[in-house]
Amino acid sequence: MSDVDAAVSALREGALIHLPTETVYGLGARADDPEAVIKVFEAKGRPRFNPLIVHIGDIVLAEQIGVFDDRARALAKAFWPGPLTLVVPVRDAGLACDLARAGLDSVALRMPAHPMALDILRGFGGGVVAPSANRSGRPSPTTQADAYEETGAFVQASPDGGDCHVGVESTVVSLLDDARYLRAGAVTRAQVEAVIGPLASDQAEGHRSPGRLSLHYAPDAPVKINVDEPSASAAYLAFGPTNFTGPVIQLSARRDLHEAAANLFRALREADRLNPPVIEIAPMPEDGIGEAINDRIKRAAGFVG
Ligand code: TXA
Ligand code: MG
Repeated sequence: MSDVDAAVSALREGALIHLPTETVYGLGARADDPEAVIKVFEAKGRPRFNPLIVHIGDIVLAEQIGVFDDRARALAKAFWPGPLTLVVPVRDAGLACDLARAGLDSVALRMPAHPMALDILRGFGGGVVAPSANRSGRPSPTTQADAYEETGAFVQASPDGGDCHVGVESTVVSLLDDARYLRAGAVTRAQVEAVIGPLASDQAEGHRSPGRLSLHYAPDAPVKINVDEPSASAAYLAFGPTNFTGPVIQLSARRDLHEAAANLFRALREADRLNPPVIEIAPMPEDGIGEAINDRIKRAAGFVG
């Protein structure tokens, strides 16, 4: 049986799979079956109030699960398949069960831009919940080996889709009333605004994104950010040339933010394997995908509430 067929049969049986995507590896289960979805929360140790993203392989299914207005259609047309998740009112709650939505009357939908993910989703034909395949609070896996190390014991199929080329989780945009940028990702605020106009400020509405817990994406060692001059015993995540003489893991020697995003979670894992007393990270520019990188490293350092 091919990797894709094995994953499709596992989903049909209500078992868990690893879902390779362009952002990070997901821990997937069929979205319509609470007995399947509960296994995701249990395997990750994820709090039940944190709703999951429902992945779909075609737009017709997306519009059966959620209500798409003009803004949702325009964003889906511009960015799907791709690293953008849309939060819209739920239409058919049977296709994305209450547990998947954490009881909300909205649903988060995404069509990933990864050929193997699309083959699995289209082969299965229904929605698939897939949070990142790490145990809750740990760095997201961006290779099949890292996914396997985190949650391999819980899955019936772990297809190898190669290394994730984006490396940080999808952008999340809520379209419930005013459009809001809930989670930064590779699709930037400016790119979303170019399609649907100005976004509302999301600062005052932090509580609307239930998953944004602090101390997320965290390795075992404490993390310090914005470090130009690393301390002698640190493992250092550099962004460009450095004269630090201790262990250096380059996020991007040529200071390319996309490359840094793709390397970020693997670099955190690699640094952790060195067992340093502290992991220090170079200052990262905030432009473009830099907003997503800074969001993730602040959380890894425990700074964002
Ligand atoms: O890139 C990604 O999005 C990865 C890959 C595997 O596709 N998946 C992922 O899923 O990161 P997850 O479950 O870790 O992220 C879900 C995010 C959380 O921040 C959650 O709070 C938000 O989406 N979310 C889900 N449903 C929501 C809803 N109804 N309203 C507001 N936020 C929602
Ligand atoms: Mg996650």
